[in-house]
Amino acid sequence: MEKKWWHQSVVYQVYPRSFYDSNGDGIGDIQGIISKLDYLQKLGIDVIWLSPVYDSPMDDNGYDISNYQDIAKEFGTLEDIEQLIKEAKDRGIKIIMDLVVNHTSDEHAWFIEAKKSKDNPYRDYYIWRKPNEGGNPPSDLESIFSGSAWELDDVSGEYYLHLFSKKQPDLNWENDKVVKEVFDMMNWWLDKGIGGFRMDVIDLIGKEIDKNIISNGPKLHPLLQSMNKATFGDRDVLTVGETWGATVDTAKLYSDPTRQEVSMIFQFEHITMCWDDEHGKWRPKPFDLIKLKEIFNKWQTGLGDQGWNSLFWNNHDLPRTVSKYGDDKNYRIESAKMLGTTLHMMRGTPYIFQGEEIGMTNVPFESIDCYRDIETLNFYRDKIAEGFTHEEMMVGLWANSRDNARTPMHWNESHQAGFTTGTPWINVNPNYTDINVEAALADENSVFYHYQKLIQLRKEMPVVVYGDFELLAPKDKQIFAYTRTLDDSKLLVVSNFSAKKTSFTYDKPVESCKTLLSNYSSTYDLKQPLALAPYESAIIQIG
Ligand code: GLC
Ligand code: CA
Repeated sequence: MEKKWWHQSVVYQVYPRSFYDSNGDGIGDIQGIISKLDYLQKLGIDVIWLSPVYDSPMDDNGYDISNYQDIAKEFGTLEDIEQLIKEAKDRGIKIIMDLVVNHTSDEHAWFIEAKKSKDNPYRDYYIWRKPNEGGNPPSDLESIFSGSAWELDDVSGEYYLHLFSKKQPDLNWENDKVVKEVFDMMNWWLDKGIGGFRMDVIDLIGKEIDKNIISNGPKLHPLLQSMNKATFGDRDVLTVGETWGATVDTAKLYSDPTRQEVSMIFQFEHITMCWDDEHGKWRPKPFDLIKLKEIFNKWQTGLGDQGWNSLFWNNHDLPRTVSKYGDDKNYRIESAKMLGTTLHMMRGTPYIFQGEEIGMTNVPFESIDCYRDIETLNFYRDKIAEGFTHEEMMVGLWANSRDNARTPMHWNESHQAGFTTGTPWINVNPNYTDINVEAALADENSVFYHYQKLIQLRKEMPVVVYGDFELLAPKDKQIFAYTRTLDDSKLLVVSNFSAKKTSFTYDKPVESCKTLLSNYSSTYDLKQPLALAPYESAIIQIG
C-alpha cells in the first residue's frame, strides 16, 4: 500500500472550551492552545484535531455553526487561528479542523434567510416538510438528542428537520448549491494551510428523508467522491469521517485509497458494545473483554490494504477510558498505561483526547445542575419522565455523560486546576490535585511519559505502523494479547485487563526477546510463562 504521512502520525484532540483559558473568562481559547503547544510537542504528537472554534451560539458547544468562516469571539479571532496554524507548523504539528456540515446553527445566515418565506432563495438549503394530516410532525423520526427530529416553523407552518437539537437544522445535501457552498468553504480553510478535516457525522449527509434513509445512503459515497475531487483530493491531508454505524465493509468504501474518499473513519463498535439495546448509553452493560477482542480483531484484520483504521478510546462525546475499561480507583496509573499500550501498538492512526495522556477520569458530579451537555440534560429530563429514577439516571450519567470528557484540563494543583484564573464554564474534576500535567511531568513513571514512549515507538519501528496483526488467546477472560509482524520484525503485546494476577504463555519458539516497554518496569523472558500483575502490560520484541 502506498505510504502516507498520516500512517505514522499520532493525533491529539483538543476540545478548546476545556483546554486552557488565557484570559480568565472561564472558557478555553485559541491563545490558550498556542501557549500549550510546547507541551504537546514534548508529548510527541504530529497532528491536532481541533473541535469547532467557529462562530456559534454554542447550543452544542460549537457543533452548531453560525459562520464557517469566522471564529467565536470567546475563542478568539481568525488571526489567532492563523497564528495557531503557523506556530503549530513551526513545531512540526498540523492542525485539522472539525467539519460540521450535516447541519448548521439555526442562527446561520442561510437558515435565517430560509425561514423568511417558502420562496426565499435559501429555503431549499434545509429540509422542510408539511405537517401530516393530523397537523403532526411529518414522521415519527427521532432526534439523536431526544424528542422529535421535526420542529414546526410558525411562519410557514412547515416543519424543518434537525437530527440533533432544534438549533441544529439539517442541511439539504440534495441541493447542489449547498454542496458548492460547503466545498468552497473547505477550500478556503485548506488555503490557510490546515492539515485536513475531521468530518462530523459525515455518514448522515447522504440521507433521503422521504425514503426513510438516514445514515449510509446510496448518495453518500458519490458525494464524498465529489468532495474529495473538488477540495482536498490533490492536497496531502488527513481526513477522518465520524461514522457511528460503520462496518468493516462500509469502512472499505470510505477509506480504500483507490476510491478517493477519506483517509480513514472512526468506527464505534468497541464503544457501543457496552450500551443497552433499548436505553443505549444511559443503561450501561458490563464490560466484556472477549467481545472487545473480537471487535478489534475484526477491524485489525478486516481492512487490509483496502483501508486504514483509526484507533481511539476517548473523544469529547465519550467517557474517560480509564474509568470505563480500566480501574480509576485502585489501579489508575497502571490501567491508564495498559490501555494506552493495548491501543497504540495496533495498526492504524492513534488519537489521544486531551487529558488521556495524564490518565484523567470520569467526573462524579452529584447534581444534575453541574451538567452542561445538551444531550445529557435532554435525556435526563425525558428518561425521568419515562419513569427512570434520579439514582438510576445518575448511574448512566456517571458512566457515559459526554461531560465526563469535557471538564477542564488539569494543568497543575492550583486554583481550578490551573485551567483558568476565573470561574470555569463547567466545574473541574475534584481529583485535579492528584492528577495534573505538572505532577505528571515531574514523575518519570507517569502516564504522560508512557504515552510519550508509545508515540516514539511508532516513529522508530515500521512494524508498529505496518505490521500484520494476529490476536492470541481470543477466549482468555483477562488477557488481551496480540503480535505484530513485518518481515522479520515481531512484537508481542500482552495486557492484563483485570485487577487479578494472571499468567500468559507464548507458545511459539523464541530465540531471543527484548522488553521494549512495561507499566511495571519489568523485563520479561518469553521462554517462561509470564506472571502478570493487575493491569500489567508489556511490549516485547521477539527475535
Ligand atoms: C458529533 C459530535 C458531537 C455533536 C454531534 C452533532 O457526534 O462529535 O459532539 O454533538 O456530532 O454535531
Ligand atoms: Ca478565555
